[in-house]
Amino acid sequence: MLRVGAQLGYDELAAAYDAAFPTGYASTIERHAVALFAEELTTTELSGPVLDVGCGTGHIAFDISSRGLEVVGIDPSTAMLNLAKQRYPEMRWLSGDASLKNLPDDSAPLAGIIARFSLIHVDPAAIPGIFATWRSRLRVGAHVMVAFQCSDDPSRPVREFDHRVARAWRWHPNALASAMARAGLSERWRMVTQPDDSHRFAECHLLCQRAT
Ligand SMILES: C[S@@+](CC[C@H](N)C(=O)[O-])C[C@H]1O[C@@H](n2cnc3c(N)ncnc32)[C@H](O)[C@@H]1O
Repeated sequence: MLRVGAQLGYDELAAAYDAAFPTGYASTIERHAVALFAEELTTTELSGPVLDVGCGTGHIAFDISSRGLEVVGIDPSTAMLNLAKQRYPEMRWLSGDASLKNLPDDSAPLAGIIARFSLIHVDPAAIPGIFATWRSRLRVGAHVMVAFQCSDDPSRPVREFDHRVARAWRWHPNALASAMARAGLSERWRMVTQPDDSHRFAECHLLCQRAT
């Protein structure tokens, strides 16, 4: 667990975060969800890179790349990105956020996007525009995996919560899946884990696809 104050930001807390999550994964099931995402991508055989949005210290991007996929990590935190660069210097890392404004216009269309526990830090009002941008940067058939802490109350589908590092919102899985569907990213499946001693909230790994 991070023993840190609230809302200090990832730049200040990168070292503590790194120590708290030495493999990137907080549970076995997370690792399996990402492995399934990677398997969908290798089966689909689309050309182009996979973008890890909010890649943090880089472990998950590296794990996916070790499965034979080209992965680029993007993150707004210089300190988190520096840890990723130091650990995996052979990979491509970009400074930027979920809006993808820093992804060059002439980049190859993406074969996939993964965003684990990073969209929680995006103001909910910006989410529809972000998904529209993602769709425009993805190849038809590309897969998108997002992971997030859940709201379990459908009548309050988006709820701010006291994340230890930065301002954050949790989403009801149906609400985030609907936002993605409105942008043309259709749900294929979701995996929801229930709260336990080390997870305060249910957590969802949601897999969507750009169908057309
Ligand atoms: C909880 S960490 C998750 C890191 C990594 N995705 C993983 O699964 O281990 C959240 C990451 O999201 C990044 N982040 C914060 N705001 C973001 C934004 N607006 N767009 C993209 N990433 C953001 C943070 O810098 C941090 O590295």
